[in-house]
Amino acid sequence: MRTTDRLLAGACALLLAMQAQAADGQKLFTQGGANPAAMACVTCHGANGEGMAAGGFPRLAGLSAGYLNKQLEDFRSGARANPIMQPIAAALGDDEMQALSAFLAAKPAPAAAQANRADAAEGVGARLALRGAWERNIPECVSCHGPGGSGVGDAFPALGGQSAAYLSAQLNAWRQGTRKNDPNDLMGHVARSLTDAEVTAVAEYFASLGQ
Ligand code: HEC
Ligand code: HEC
Repeated sequence: MRTTDRLLAGACALLLAMQAQAADGQKLFTQGGANPAAMACVTCHGANGEGMAAGGFPRLAGLSAGYLNKQLEDFRSGARANPIMQPIAAALGDDEMQALSAFLAAKPAPAAAQANRADAAEGVGARLALRGAWERNIPECVSCHGPGGSGVGDAFPALGGQSAAYLSAQLNAWRQGTRKNDPNDLMGHVARSLTDAEVTAVAEYFASLGQ
């Protein structure tokens, strides 16, 4: 191919890619999808995707696009069971999911304290988060979720800045088998190894870092 042909082909590919992204994330978030069953996210997840602790609605702002998109696909497939989110995800098109995930990932994440392995670990929650319980094969949460649970890449979501109620509900969903969407049962193993008191304590610990 001549250089100009190659440039032209490149420009066409770019245009096609831009059209594929044409679904408007902001509009979808505030007004809902083309299918009315894809209700406006803003109603539950807050004006800026900051979540609503009292309703058990998680913050979405600043989570990675890859993680958000995977969760929407998992609700759609049922790998993550939830009576509210499953019909909403099922009503979203692939392009709508991608636009929403990109829009939310670009929003600022709440500031979370960067507690890490080197810090003192006082109390049950902090010990699990920063040291783990290796005698029961439970790695410290920050080894996957990053310092202060601030999230790592597309695979490991941020925990800081989520409410204690949401975090413990997710750990219990893994223990009960209603959430089974994690690669290689990584979280399933961790969650099933925790006692009720440990679930509460570690959820409260990460929630406290986000304040
Ligand atoms: C009627 C309330 C409601 C509406 C509207 C709603 N959600 Fe949700 N959403 C929830 C609840 C409740 C959960 C927690 C589900 C669970 O416990 O697994 C959730 C969880 C999520 C999660 C998982 C977050 C995480 O950290 O894993 C994503 C992603 C999400 N919603 C995206 C959306 C998008 C995008 C929209 C708009 C198209 C939307 N939601 C509309 C209630 C709602
Ligand atoms: C070996 C790696 C690993 C370790 C250690 C780990 N996690 Fe996770 N965790 C994951 C992965 C992977 C996911 C995302 C699964 C998915 O794709 O939905 C996750 C998701 C979560 C979620 C759901 C977040 C959301 O937004 O819905 C919670 C809550 C959680 N982990 C808590 C913990 C706690 C508490 C600990 C420590 C006791 C811990 N994790 C240790 C890998 C790990």
